[in-house]
Amino acid sequence: MYSRVQRDACIACGLCQLCAPELFNYDAEGIAYYRPDHNQGTTPIPPEQLTAFKQAYRQCPTGAIKRQTQPFPPADKKST
Ligand code: F3S
Repeated sequence: MYSRVQRDACIACGLCQLCAPELFNYDAEGIAYYRPDHNQGTTPIPPEQLTAFKQAYRQCPTGAIKRQTQPFPPADKKST
């Protein structure tokens, strides 16, 4: 499973980092990104982090956390 934050949808609520601090962090403006690969979406979620990931995924109020089984394509400016 791969993940990336759709950053133009993030409202900096902070829940994902509380649920999964290994997977999500914030930039200087409080907008989240996927930590393992700086929001490229090409590094799989470590198996031991999947439970935390699911909690973050479900809690995000805007659906900004994306997931898919294949690596994400190269990021455009909005998603990095
Ligand atoms: Fe943003 Fe959702 Fe996390 S709004 S801070 S990606 S929980």
